[in-house]
Amino acid sequence: MGDSITITDDRTGKTVTVLIEADNTIASTALRHLDPELRVYDPSFVSTASCASAVTYVDGDAGILRYRGYPIEVLAERSDFLEVALLLLTGELPGPAALAEWRQEIVVHTYVHENVKHFMQQFHHDAHPMGMLVSTVAALSTFYPDAKQIFDEEVRHKQIVRLIAKMPTLAAFAHRFSVGMPFVYPDNDLSYTTNFLSMMWKVAEPRYAAHPVLARALDVLFILHADHEQNCSTTAMRTVASAHADPYSATAAAAAALYGPRHGGANEEVIRMLDDIGSVDAVPGFVERVKRGDGRLMGFGHRVYKNYDPRARLIKRTADEVFAVVGSNPLLDIALALEEAALADDYFVERKLYPNVDFYSGLIYQAMGFPLEMFTVLFAIPRTVGWLAHWVELLGDADQRIARPRQRYIGAGERPYIPVGERNRA
Ligand code: CMC
Repeated sequence: MGDSITITDDRTGKTVTVLIEADNTIASTALRHLDPELRVYDPSFVSTASCASAVTYVDGDAGILRYRGYPIEVLAERSDFLEVALLLLTGELPGPAALAEWRQEIVVHTYVHENVKHFMQQFHHDAHPMGMLVSTVAALSTFYPDAKQIFDEEVRHKQIVRLIAKMPTLAAFAHRFSVGMPFVYPDNDLSYTTNFLSMMWKVAEPRYAAHPVLARALDVLFILHADHEQNCSTTAMRTVASAHADPYSATAAAAAALYGPRHGGANEEVIRMLDDIGSVDAVPGFVERVKRGDGRLMGFGHRVYKNYDPRARLIKRTADEVFAVVGSNPLLDIALALEEAALADDYFVERKLYPNVDFYSGLIYQAMGFPLEMFTVLFAIPRTVGWLAHWVELLGDADQRIARPRQRYIGAGERPYIPVGERNRA
């Protein structure tokens, strides 16, 4: 027997010995041997592993991130987004034929039903593109009722292809609607990112020519955002999927979680924060306010990383490449000064708060011309791949039942019902 832990119930004297698995987890079910009614109280899953997963490995203390065993740095340098997508979904880097077939599959599914376009055109004129995306992804389930057959592998594959292929189309449509521009249909001769840039920016030219450095930068950003194990949105995906909902409904739930400012909405908040700070001189005052508890330093801190987020390091490099083409972002100096001030300050050092993926990504998106409201949408496009990889993994995991956490009930005991007229309340 390997390492173990022995727990004694001091009320009864009963003990249970539990094996500590190689990945430092113990089975909570062991507690049932002591007392079937005993529960672990762990709000927000701070110490709870909710699943076993082979998709992504994160070592937050060492600042390591790997997809299916491949270091993120290598993938960002050598691979492209669609190849990484197939790696995340299947577990293996594809051979040339499989990769070509996959690219072709994605290309032929980029179009959406015309009614999806009409649906999107009915939003309020100033609808947030992320709200539009969440709702439209959910609406796709009504266009593809076959998606309910979640245990048919072929059907499942089709929905995966549809979602990954259509996400950039929906994202670009949401933007075009918000600026009152006609929608640009996909151009299937273009790559995943150049096609997205074409749908975003094309005006009257016969073919939109994306700058190769910008298209590659976006591809790298998509790779870096493709998965991050059991984050809030992936947990939402798994929770909804555990009820055997169709993948469009589950993806919409995941995207809704991503929308929050503590999660994928943070990149938008970082720019608002830098705008509010306004100048390098104002950085020390801002840091003091954060330390007093007046707001947070957005783009800093992470539940898992207690070291520099490796994605933030790669994004900083990508930012230099983008700025060399489009000119620097005037907010960059404030961001650099803020990072320097925070990393030298005891408050942030003691709490191990470092820049996360969102700290610099917004600066790049802004320099590339994306409006703030599109930032989380730009996160949702690649993260769809991660959500789907976890969806497939969950459906094949015999240990997974419907997600149904227990609670500590802290409300009132049984109370007598008093008719409204007799209640002694205003
Ligand atoms: N600025 C100032 N203080 C912070 C920050 C921050 N950004 N993040 C954490 N802290 C403090 C927090 O006040 C607490 O201090 P104390 O122990 O004195 O109460 C301590 O650090 C631990 O924080 P926590 O809130 O318990 O940590 P968490 O793991 O629950 O939250 C987080 C993680 C990412 C939600 C949080 O760090 C945060 O709100 N960061 C800003 C938002 C952000 O950048 N989000 C993007 C996350 S990365 C991409 C993604 O997942 O979408």
